[in-house]
Amino acid sequence: MTVFETKDALVKALQPYRAKHQSTGFVPTMGALHAGHLSLAARARKENDVVVVSIFVNPTQFNDRNDLANYPRTLQADAEKLQAGGCDFVFAPSVEEMYPEKDTRTFDFGLLDKGMEGTFRAGHFNGVAQIVSKLFDVVQPDRAYFGEKDFQQLAIIRYMAQNLRYPVEIVSCPIVREADGLAMSSRNVRLTPAQRRIVPVIAQTLLASRGKIAHTPLNELKKWVSDTIHQTEGLKMEYFEIVDRNTLQTADTFRSNALQGCIAVHAGNVRLIDNISY
Ligand code: PAF
Repeated sequence: MTVFETKDALVKALQPYRAKHQSTGFVPTMGALHAGHLSLAARARKENDVVVVSIFVNPTQFNDRNDLANYPRTLQADAEKLQAGGCDFVFAPSVEEMYPEKDTRTFDFGLLDKGMEGTFRAGHFNGVAQIVSKLFDVVQPDRAYFGEKDFQQLAIIRYMAQNLRYPVEIVSCPIVREADGLAMSSRNVRLTPAQRRIVPVIAQTLLASRGKIAHTPLNELKKWVSDTIHQTEGLKMEYFEIVDRNTLQTADTFRSNALQGCIAVHAGNVRLIDNISY
């Protein structure tokens, strides 16, 4: 496995594979890798000739300066995990390498970014699209792998890839959870032991809501989820939405089998998201 810091070096390393029409699988990450990321890399390994994983904490997608400053950075440990996972190339560029000048592009996501993360993290998805499009330009993957934990991000990247006609298949991969249900996230390492003990309530509440949805009006179910989260001291819910899985528009009745419940919760200054299909 080789780690590259420049776009040119990675492009050059990929050229012989491209010349032989071998397929490239790409896993974009911000590092601090956990079993969720490694499941994406493992899937990419299975389905492609070459696997590239990028590790880049993208400043343009952070709307909170503290979150950017505190985002865990563990390149050495990440590289070891990827080596063990059979990754071929790691791309770990500097901010200057990816943004030699300010990226002023603004992207259109239709209605997909109008709620949930789009409401609470202004500019976040535009920053995600800036970096993912730049990475696609460099790696030119046949397949790119994204986790379903970032449910709205996945829909937005799919939309962007289609709109900008990137010849890439966007592959969505299931959430990987801890034994107590907590969705794996790089931010989990920032939880205090006391916070770590209470945060499984988020996934457990979502799971319980699945048992209720068929016989509970959606607004009552939303209130139940909100009340249940808030009954846990130390958790503060930012939103819980039940949306159509494809359009991400708020659903007002339980009438399709394409509903998704999406939640964001603060445990102290750590912001966690999760979702569930109904
Ligand atoms: O999901 C993430 O980790 C990031 O948003 C991504 C897709 C790597 C872009 O920086």
